Amino acid sequence: MKIWKKVGLLLCVVIIGLLVLTGCQSKEQKKIVRIGHNQSVNHPTHIALAAFQDYINDHLGDKYVVEVYPNELLGSQTDMVQLTQTGAIDFCIASNAILETFSKNYEIFNLPYLFASTKSYHNAMDDREITDKIFTATEKAGFLAVTWLDAGTRNFYTVKKPIESPKDLKGLKIRVQQSPTNIEMMKLLGGSATPMGFGEVYTALQSNIIDGAENNELALTDNGHGDVCKYYSYDMHQMVPDILIGNLAFIEELSDEEMVIFEEGYELVNEIQREEWIKAVEAAKQKAENEQNVRFIYPDQEPFKEACLPLHQSVLERNTEIQDIYDKIQKYNELYPSDTE
Ligand code: GCU
Repeated sequence: MKIWKKVGLLLCVVIIGLLVLTGCQSKEQKKIVRIGHNQSVNHPTHIALAAFQDYINDHLGDKYVVEVYPNELLGSQTDMVQLTQTGAIDFCIASNAILETFSKNYEIFNLPYLFASTKSYHNAMDDREITDKIFTATEKAGFLAVTWLDAGTRNFYTVKKPIESPKDLKGLKIRVQQSPTNIEMMKLLGGSATPMGFGEVYTALQSNIIDGAENNELALTDNGHGDVCKYYSYDMHQMVPDILIGNLAFIEELSDEEMVIFEEGYELVNEIQREEWIKAVEAAKQKAENEQNVRFIYPDQEPFKEACLPLHQSVLERNTEIQDIYDKIQKYNELYPSDTE
């Protein structure tokens, strides 16, 4: 018993010490700004956040210290969104897919074949008239989006069987992100949707719990999925952006001058990430093909598109809030119908 009393006492001293320290920090010391994400330190997202860290530390280093936590160190994306909501951390990167469970407005960017081309996608995402209503939709939940990041196009990749048409997905267990729209999309395509967090996918592939997954090319190399999956099919079913979200209270408490610097920082994240993205996709393709022996397949996209398109109608019917955004995106699709023209 005595030993437990001593341990209890020691714990109390440590906890009080920590509380005092945290109190001091907010009063006299610098505020630590914590940003979490689920990618490696080589990923364009980390490179862009490291630039943000330097920018804020250079311009507001007397008040703030930015710390970036990669590799799900702070938990899965869903965990990190919840931590950002409560203010336990200040920012995180979340895929648009999982944000759909926090606000229905995010459903729009999860629709398969929403954008006719990368040009249309980028122009739409840069248009505040399109993104504002979405980026501010979670304010009541305690967070808001401050910028978007490119996550390329999502395509199917499998361990054993190449996907040449939706028929090939029949009977296959395919990991999807934890979003109702993604689950519905898989149903329409004929595969069996297995939702799980990104960090669990590699082991699930390796142990044959799933037959494949869908993601951009970097998942093959940066996350090692190409060590297990040897077929990558460019059906191009989605362009789902990543979103930098921040705790609302933290952002609202910034002074006007600080806000300007932070906003310049968000811009920098967007610019650098997009530049790095183009290089990273090229390098990933080379590596997957030459070092991991992944075969790239270019199926006819029409049958995939036809199977998925009913989802546009059903989502728009049950969520009339996003119709105006959808219409604005169609204008960009008319302007930029393909990337080859
Ligand atoms: C991409 C995306 C991540 C996301 C992941 C996933 O890598 O950039 O934000 O978590 O896909 O499929 O879960």
